[in-house]
Amino acid sequence: MRISVASIIVVLVSLSTQSFAFEVNEFYPEERDALMQLRDVVSSTSNLHANWTGPPCNKKNQSRWAGIACSDWHVTHLVLEGINLTGSLPSRFLQNLTLLSKLSFRNNSLHGPLPNLTNLLRLEFVFLSRNQFLGSIPSGYIDLTKLTKLELQENDLSGQIPPFDQQSLIAFNVSNNKLEGPIPDTPVLQRFPKSSYANNSALCGGIPGLIPCPIAGPPPAPGMSPASPPIPSRGKNGSVLKSWSIALIAAAAVLVPLSVFLIVVCYNRRVCGKRIKEDRELQGEVYRDRKGKQSQWSESTNDPEGTLQLEFLDKPFFDLDDLLRAAAEVIGRGKLGTTYKTMLECGSVVAVKRLKETNALSRKEFVQQMHLLGNAKHENLAEIISFYNSKEEKLIIYEYVPDGSLFSLLHENTGIGRRPLDWNTRVKIIEDIAKGMDLLHHRLASQAVPHGNLKSSNVVIQRLNVGNSIRAKLTDYGLLPLVPVDKLSVGRTPEFREGKKLTSKADVYCFGIIVLEIVTGKDLTSPLLSSPSSLGSNKGGRGYTRDLSVWVRAALNNDWSPDILDMEIVGEKEGYDQMLRLTEIGLECTHELPERRPKMTQVLSRVQDAIITQTN
Ligand SMILES: *[C@@H]1O[C@H](CO)[C@@H](O)[C@H](O)[C@H]1NC(C)=O
Ligand SMILES: *[C@@H]1O[C@H](CO)[C@@H](O)[C@H](O)[C@H]1NC(C)=O
Ligand SMILES: *[C@@H]1O[C@H](CO)[C@@H](O)[C@H](O)[C@H]1NC(C)=O
Ligand SMILES: *[C@@H]1O[C@H](CO)[C@@H](O)[C@H](O)[C@H]1NC(C)=O
Ligand SMILES: *[C@@H]1O[C@H](CO)[C@@H](O)[C@H](O)[C@H]1NC(C)=O
Ligand SMILES: *[C@@H]1O[C@H](CO)[C@@H](O)[C@H](O)[C@H]1NC(C)=O
Ligand SMILES: *[C@@H]1O[C@H](CO)[C@@H](O)[C@H](O)[C@H]1NC(C)=O
Ligand SMILES: *[C@@H]1O[C@H](CO)[C@@H](O)[C@H](O)[C@H]1NC(C)=O
Repeated sequence: MRISVASIIVVLVSLSTQSFAFEVNEFYPEERDALMQLRDVVSSTSNLHANWTGPPCNKKNQSRWAGIACSDWHVTHLVLEGINLTGSLPSRFLQNLTLLSKLSFRNNSLHGPLPNLTNLLRLEFVFLSRNQFLGSIPSGYIDLTKLTKLELQENDLSGQIPPFDQQSLIAFNVSNNKLEGPIPDTPVLQRFPKSSYANNSALCGGIPGLIPCPIAGPPPAPGMSPASPPIPSRGKNGSVLKSWSIALIAAAAVLVPLSVFLIVVCYNRRVCGKRIKEDRELQGEVYRDRKGKQSQWSESTNDPEGTLQLEFLDKPFFDLDDLLRAAAEVIGRGKLGTTYKTMLECGSVVAVKRLKETNALSRKEFVQQMHLLGNAKHENLAEIISFYNSKEEKLIIYEYVPDGSLFSLLHENTGIGRRPLDWNTRVKIIEDIAKGMDLLHHRLASQAVPHGNLKSSNVVIQRLNVGNSIRAKLTDYGLLPLVPVDKLSVGRTPEFREGKKLTSKADVYCFGIIVLEIVTGKDLTSPLLSSPSSLGSNKGGRGYTRDLSVWVRAALNNDWSPDILDMEIVGEKEGYDQMLRLTEIGLECTHELPERRPKMTQVLSRVQDAIITQTN
């Protein structure tokens, strides 16, 4: 059977050390054969022939093949996106990739029929959009019981939509094809908005914004053939037609406000989970088995007794199941762990921080700290919504702030298409950070260092709709009791390096560094900063610099000069006075001696003074 495991022994000879390492590799030959079939019939801009060699899984859970991911020596992901894959897929070539959970050929030039996915019961994500697939949607797709997201938009598909009814389906898009006929009347398909169906030849149905089907004809049969008449023929009897239309108009009148209501409810995240649950109860849905989940954190949050729960600081609007089921995307990897952008079923998005290494803490201590942090609400703090605590796993769930971090605004996307960060925006960010810090220093006065991890990658940005303005929010605050200090930004303060006790002035130091980073546009971690030669062009600079404040002090040599400014703001001469004042504040905050640094409250009022003076 398919469990015919072949083992090959690969001898890795490490020439540099002249030592030998032995590694046993296993693989499933029929899985490799399937991928070879694909490799040999399509062409693409990436050289799969050169890359797909050797066994597909080189470690138990690892692949060296582009686009392949493995688990337990099985191929689980096949993801080849935007590489101009051209050709038609070999028929049934996927049949032997029995544990496949994600299949993506998004944005290529594949033509011919959609792949046969029969028996691939682990499939959760199927992304075949932006190709030139032809023919109808195979009715076999409705039997993929774990299917979570199906994207078929922007192809040349024709025929009718099969009656998808898997409760797991949370994203579905067949727009921009040549589909026709009624949208099947399953509760699942009615969930999706008009844009999931738009731009087809002749789709009709009860989705708001779509043409209603002229007459409620016979319900579409499962696996209907594309040849069946797309639109039911008109009734012979005029009066019958009339009463049907009246019924339809009445139904539509009820449907439209109801769906608007649902959408509104769903976007209001406080009640969204509740609403979804009610829906599920109505539809008698059985929750999916946890074991089947493929979320990044599901392995270790496996909880057979169902005793573990998410804890909420406010009203719950989703549960652990929702979280495990949600699609997640890595948005940050740092010393503390990985942060995921997580899209819940109802459309809400949260940021989940998974702490990698924590101090030995009792459950009570962790919970207490989370409650303390969760209560420090402010518009300049990323809100902690919930957390999860088990022996192996600690998750903190924050509100998701969509527009990236200060670090990325300052130092990333430096090529063409970069949006320069003007001085007024920078000033607003500095003020927001100061406000958030001041609040933390008041609310968390009991903590040795209230924030503890202030740095530009922990300042997240939200663009506001009004006045082209932006808001900065602090995240990763209050973690000092939970994680080792050397993983936090306060681990870079002079006092920590000298082995002294940390106080709230360590936060002030980190604030000063951020101000200098915003003014100079220099990245604290950039290698340029530590190379002696890079200082040559700045007057007074010489030698190896330890951090940004040392660099700025050396560069200024007691005399403020626009030489230190970020190129992007050098031209804004009217801001020089503010830039000077804020540089001074930054330097005071980064004084070597903690006791010589101002308090956070003083810092805030001085920052605000500097802003007001300018506007007057
Ligand atoms: C699947 O693998 C079996 C065993 O290697 C092979 O006989 C069969 O042809 C494969 N199926 C497809 C569709 O390639
Ligand atoms: C295949 O390409 C990926 C990145 O695209 C690379 O990491 C990997 O080492 C390559 N594998 C082989 C066998 O060349
Ligand atoms: C590989 O992944 C499986 C499940 O995905 C997990 O049970 C196993 O512990 C992982 N093994 C390694 C070596 O990471
Ligand atoms: C599609 O792929 C091409 C490369 O083939 C890439 O340039 C383009 O940005 C991709 N488009 C989208 C929408 O992903
Ligand atoms: C994709 O490849 C085909 C032929 O291999 C070529 O004609 C086409 O221009 C390519 N498209 C892109 C976007 O590179
Ligand atoms: C898809 O594959 C299954 C199993 O290999 C087969 O029974 C079925 O007929 C195929 N469907 C189509 C439409 O080719
Ligand atoms: C439908 O097509 C039009 C024109 O091609 C395009 O502007 C619009 O964005 C498309 N709608 C969707 C939902 O894709
Ligand atoms: C469906 O895809 C189209 C692009 O072809 C996009 O404009 C639309 O927003 C998508 N709708 C949903 C609900 O994802």
